[in-house]
Amino acid sequence: MQISPKLNNVETSIFSVMSALANKHNAINLSQGFPNFKSDQKLIDAVSKAMNSGYNQYAPMAGNLELRKAIAKKFELLYNTSYHPEVEITVTAGATQAIFTIISTFVRPGDEVIIFKPAYDCYEPAITLNGGKPITIPLKAPSYNIDWNLVEQAINDHTKMIIINTPHNPSGTTLCQTDLLKLQELTNNTNIIILSDEVYEHIIFDGAQHQSVCLFKQLKARSFITASFGKTFHNTGWKVGYTCAPKELMEAFRNVHQFNVFSVHHPTQKGLADYLAEHSHYQTLSSFYQDKRDTFLKLIKDSRFTWTPSKGTYFQVLDFSDITSEKDTDFAKRLTVEKGIASIPLSVFNTHERDDKVLRFCFAKTGDTLKMAADILNRI
Ligand SMILES: Cc1ncc(COP(=O)(O)O)c(C=O)c1O
Repeated sequence: MQISPKLNNVETSIFSVMSALANKHNAINLSQGFPNFKSDQKLIDAVSKAMNSGYNQYAPMAGNLELRKAIAKKFELLYNTSYHPEVEITVTAGATQAIFTIISTFVRPGDEVIIFKPAYDCYEPAITLNGGKPITIPLKAPSYNIDWNLVEQAINDHTKMIIINTPHNPSGTTLCQTDLLKLQELTNNTNIIILSDEVYEHIIFDGAQHQSVCLFKQLKARSFITASFGKTFHNTGWKVGYTCAPKELMEAFRNVHQFNVFSVHHPTQKGLADYLAEHSHYQTLSSFYQDKRDTFLKLIKDSRFTWTPSKGTYFQVLDFSDITSEKDTDFAKRLTVEKGIASIPLSVFNTHERDDKVLRFCFAKTGDTLKMAADILNRI
């Protein structure tokens, strides 16, 4: 039998590779992006309560309505904008499923999708699997700013979608108001759909405001926002998130969503709905992570790494060009095996694996772990 799968040449994700290497060598794992501290006990209790109260059968296809209402409320409070909970918000199995479903809903063979590299790793396979063509635009270290002239040149009649991500994984940079206005200008009077990956919307530093597409009227009208409770409430393993978009776009999304997931773990949705009623649960997240960023950077201030402080997300990129000229992938592996600290080499997110000599470290870790990590980094 000859099988001919649609997606080929796929390597094991760098997150799995580095985490496995970290486990094998008992290294401190600052590679994969997950917290090593517990989710709030109140949230765990709320989910347990939901299970014990009978929320154990299929949730509605679009998600538990109480949760969708709580999400709508959050948009009103934070961005002074409204998404209708019944027809414009859908709860998803993490942001990854939302992203895959959005791309599958709209991208046909031959369609072009503009993405910015380095990029989170799930965009490109989803585009390719649907017969689309990823059009990659480089973001250059250390600023990782978008060159909007390149975007303007890349847009043509085949452009179906543009995917943006702010705060940005892996670089820890953010888009500013000018960026969003430029995107709005360039997509005006086109049929381009925007997929705005905003999973780190609540982790933004130094008093900056998150620039959501929903703050810009014409962008909002053509955009999906994807979000992840895993990032916000320290439980990446629960894989619950949501997506919002104007009614017509959301209807199209749900046509696909109902056949690839149908609905998401119900007790978790009910627990999240109760927990979201207390707004401080997400409003304090930026200062919580800013403290961690500052602690980490203070601890490594005498190391030979150089950096620009992360502006958002729970990642800090460190430049090692003063230390070695090794390839970033080799250096990251050597640090894990020989020095006992795991990170992610940024080249794996870049087109042609461009190597800017930078590694990504996740600082969503306890103070003790950050201290142990810093002790190692200071000796390198
Ligand atoms: C930028 C970005 N988008 C999407 C995701 C996926 O989120 P989820 O775990 O909710 O599927 C991640 C997770 O690391 C991410 O960093």
